[in-house]
Order: sequence, then structure tokens, then C-alpha cells
Amino acid sequence: MKPIAVIPGDGIGVDVTRECMRVLKRVNEKFACALEFVEFDWSADKYLKEGVTLPAGALDFLPKDFSAILFGAIGDPRVPDNRHAADILLGMRFGLDLYANVRPVRLLHEKLCPLKNVRVQDVNFTVMRENTEGAYVNAGGVFKKGTADEVATQEEIHTRKGVERIIVYAFEHAKKHGLSKVCMSDKSNVMLYAGGLWQRCFKEVSARYPEIKPNHLYVDALTLIMVRKPTEFQVIVTNNMFGDIVTDLAAALQGGLGMAASGNINPNGISLFEPVHGSAPPMAGKNISNPMGSILTAAMMLDHLGLHDPAAAIEKAVAACVEADQTTVDIGGTLGTHEVADAVIARL
Ligand code: IPM
Ligand code: MN
Repeated sequence: MKPIAVIPGDGIGVDVTRECMRVLKRVNEKFACALEFVEFDWSADKYLKEGVTLPAGALDFLPKDFSAILFGAIGDPRVPDNRHAADILLGMRFGLDLYANVRPVRLLHEKLCPLKNVRVQDVNFTVMRENTEGAYVNAGGVFKKGTADEVATQEEIHTRKGVERIIVYAFEHAKKHGLSKVCMSDKSNVMLYAGGLWQRCFKEVSARYPEIKPNHLYVDALTLIMVRKPTEFQVIVTNNMFGDIVTDLAAALQGGLGMAASGNINPNGISLFEPVHGSAPPMAGKNISNPMGSILTAAMMLDHLGLHDPAAAIEKAVAACVEADQTTVDIGGTLGTHEVADAVIARL
């Protein structure tokens, strides 16, 4: 048995996960995947009712009792400081050491790309975002808060171990998939200390992979080239914050946030899979959000679990729905969230 912890979260995370689960249950039967699902209601609702964010013991029982985690989205305006999101999502990223945030960028149909004259094969790369340190550790402080003399500091933490392992992960991915180059992106012309560490690690690690060409771009230049010439990229490795930003841009190349999938990977433990989009509170409960990001994320999870045929079947079904305009409004169709899932299931 492969038990999966399902955490829909907030907003449209609930809507897309509900539909994604119908697709998953269909492939589970059809391919006899032996998946079992246990749902957890960790969310703003639970926090507001019970004061609980990430329940005690979660970081122990998740890796012990489950093969993977399927996540929806988190964030709710009723929790203005986003405390529950920090505890639940970042709590699992940090606490389960999910250090590689793997965000594939693939165009399923050229009509989804906002760029001119782009073919599907022109947008096909993976961003490896460091996922356990950088700006996300939220180090810093505030002094004289609320006064005219207020001072705020926000620090980034970059460790030798943390930087090296994500760069190794990127090169290993390139090697495994027969790719020829890895691009590291930072802002080492300004952020000299962290940038210096990233530069030195990249140089050292790349020397161990002579068959793979290392390349470097400052992150501002990276965004320019990503729009102008996406064919340039195979694997991009970058820090937590830059990875967050460039993967929204990269999502646009694929048809928007509704199409982007991701995995938060611990290569030595349990991993968590989540669509790149957020909880989009104004869209919640209206049957309008695009479930394809979540469904493609589920395919990524299956692939990670060694279930390659069902993963490929889901991807093929989604691509066929896109081709036939059986999609939500954000990518040009007329269907609702539920009806898109119906269309995917019908093709499985
Ligand atoms: C993402 C999201 C999260 C992040 C938020 C919800 C904390 O934007 O997964 O990209 O910034 O990492
Ligand atoms: Mn983001």
C-alpha cells in the first residue's frame, strides 16, 4: 500500500484538490496503484476554530505513516499575518527538510504561451529552487516599530550544506535526464557574501560533472532571457526567493499559474507535491479555478513514487483536454473546475 496524506488547505486549494482526487482515484483503480488517501483539514478554518496550525506530531507521523503528501494551497485574508501558512507549509518544507523545490516548466500547447512564435519544445526546463533557507527563514527584527524612526532588518541565511546540496541536486537531475547544461542564478554582483558562497559551490560542484556545461546569470538578466529566449534553459538552480519569483514568470510561459506543478523533494525522505498557484480567496468555492496544475502535480507525485505509466496517462489526458479546449476560462475554455476533471477522467 502507498498511503498519501492529502492537505487541501485554503481557498481554491480545496476546490482543485477535490477534483484532482477524483482523477487520482480513477487512475488508482485503472492502474491498480494501491494508493490510499487520508485527508487532513489543516487550514485557516481549523486555525480560527481551534488555534491549531501544524498539529503536534505531524512532522513525526507524516514520514513514518505516508509515502507522499499532496497539498492544495494555503493563505486566507482572515489570518492577516499568514501565521498558519508559515506554520503549515513552511513548517513542512523546513521540518521535513524538503530542500529541493522542483518546478518543471513545460508548454502543453503553443496556444497557451503568451510569447509569439513559440513551439511546445521551446519551453521545456526545470527550476530547482532551494527550499529550506535564504530569505524564507525570516530572520531579522524591528526596532521602534510604528514610529518615524522605525528600523527593520530582514536577513537571509545561506549555508554551505544547503547551497551545495541543491546545486548537486540540479546536476544530478541533468545527468539523469541526459541534459547538457545547468544555469545557476543569483545576484552576486550586489549580495557579495551569499553570492560568493553560491559562486564557489557552483564552481566546485560543476567541476564534478565535466559532461554538463555550467552557466551563470544574474537573476535580473535571467528573467529577461526567460521571456526572450526560453529555449536557452534546461535546468536552472537558484535560491529560495529568486526561485519563488522566477517560477511565477515561468508559469506564465506555460499558460499561467493554473498550469504549473511542483514537488518539494527530500531525496532521502517523504516529499510534498503542490501546484504553484496560491489559494486565490476571491475565486474559492465558485467552480472556476483551473485544476490542471493540481492534476499535473499529482502526476509528478506518481512519477516520484515509481508509478510512471499512470503519471504519463494523466499528462497525456490533460494535454488532450488542452488541445480540445476542455479547459477553464483562464486558459481559454468555458468549463468549470469540476467539468475539467470530468473531461480528464473521460480520457483516462
Ligand atoms: C509558492 C508560494 C509560497 C512561497 C507562499 C504561499 C508562502 O508563493 O510556493 O511559490 O512563497 O514559497
Ligand atoms: Mn510563489
